[in-house]
Amino acid sequence: MAHTQLIKINPINPEKPKIVRAANIIRNGGLVAFPTETVYGLGANALDPVAISQIYVAKGRPANNPLIIHIATIEDLKQISNSRSRKVLKLAKMFWPGPLTLVLPKSKVVPKIATGGLDTVAVRMPNHKIARSLIRSAGVPIAAPSANISGRPSSTRASHVIEDLWGRVDLIIDGGKSAIGLESTVLDMTSSDPILLRPGGLPIEKVANLIGNIRIHPSVKDPSYSSLKKFGSYKSPGMLYRHYSPKADLIVVEGPRSKVNSKIKEITSRAKTIEGKKVCIITRRRQHNFNADMIRFVGTDFKSFSKNLFDVFRSADKHNVDVIITEGIDSTDLGLAVMNRLKKAAKVIINT
Ligand code: TXA
Ligand code: MG
Repeated sequence: MAHTQLIKINPINPEKPKIVRAANIIRNGGLVAFPTETVYGLGANALDPVAISQIYVAKGRPANNPLIIHIATIEDLKQISNSRSRKVLKLAKMFWPGPLTLVLPKSKVVPKIATGGLDTVAVRMPNHKIARSLIRSAGVPIAAPSANISGRPSSTRASHVIEDLWGRVDLIIDGGKSAIGLESTVLDMTSSDPILLRPGGLPIEKVANLIGNIRIHPSVKDPSYSSLKKFGSYKSPGMLYRHYSPKADLIVVEGPRSKVNSKIKEITSRAKTIEGKKVCIITRRRQHNFNADMIRFVGTDFKSFSKNLFDVFRSADKHNVDVIITEGIDSTDLGLAVMNRLKKAAKVIINT
């Protein structure tokens, strides 16, 4: 059990002494959870294998799942990777700081434990003042996965980090709510055509506009893909590999609006009256006539949907909801990332 401390830092104008205190913990091999514009990260000195091993322990994360290395300036990139790719530089100059992670050949200074044994390394420069001043002040790059227990929804508020990691980390920085609310877009730049490995806060259309063709890994649209390959027997949506999961069963209903609404009502009433379950509905409309134990309006646009999604998952769990029902959205712009997370978390996906 670690003795965890909590400090509040101003996200617009981070107080220097508080940043120094957090940076000292990183430099001394400790763990600090900190805010970024996507989700909260669980950080350690990226050049210290022992510190990094503690991240895996604190999260209960499988050791072969590599971490993202966070840097403060484009200059820092040179230390992490020897890549001299022009596409990489172009992307970095355009989208950093921001929600884009680039997978590159790794340099020698990056310990293998940070990359899950791979020869590649994922790098990102976060667009958050607390995150970047922390990296600068620590004087080392910071390895950080999302600050949640493995398999749980990522944390978009300090309260989520406290829920999952209190007693497991040295310091939690409260810097308010993450502006984007979904993790970064992960792009593999180690093959001739870049490959989208994880859709995220930066819409892939914007990336393609800048550098042209991007291949999309099959698991992006079909999150069951990897488990399918592994087990070779995937048949029904009910068997989807679950990730980012609330404790409640998530049901995603896709199809035309009118049909989706009546389907949601039908499932809700069956779950409530016949099965006696507590139901939460996620809706994008202010005006609705749903009848459920909990109804969460997530905003009409994709931006607010992404910002609120993980928060809604966690608050449904707090209220001991049994079933969460949501409509699907178009897989364009931020919708690709939202649908990817919904499908990964879903127990059932229904097409009406
Ligand atoms: O927005 C974010 O990306 C947040 C904040 C804290 O920066 N971080 C985050 O980290 O979501 P994590 O560890 O939860 O997700 C990192 C993803 C994983 O899917 C991992 O497999 C992938 O990036 N990844 C990391 N290194 C990789 C590599 N060398 N090759 C391929 N995928 C890699
Ligand atoms: Mg994560």
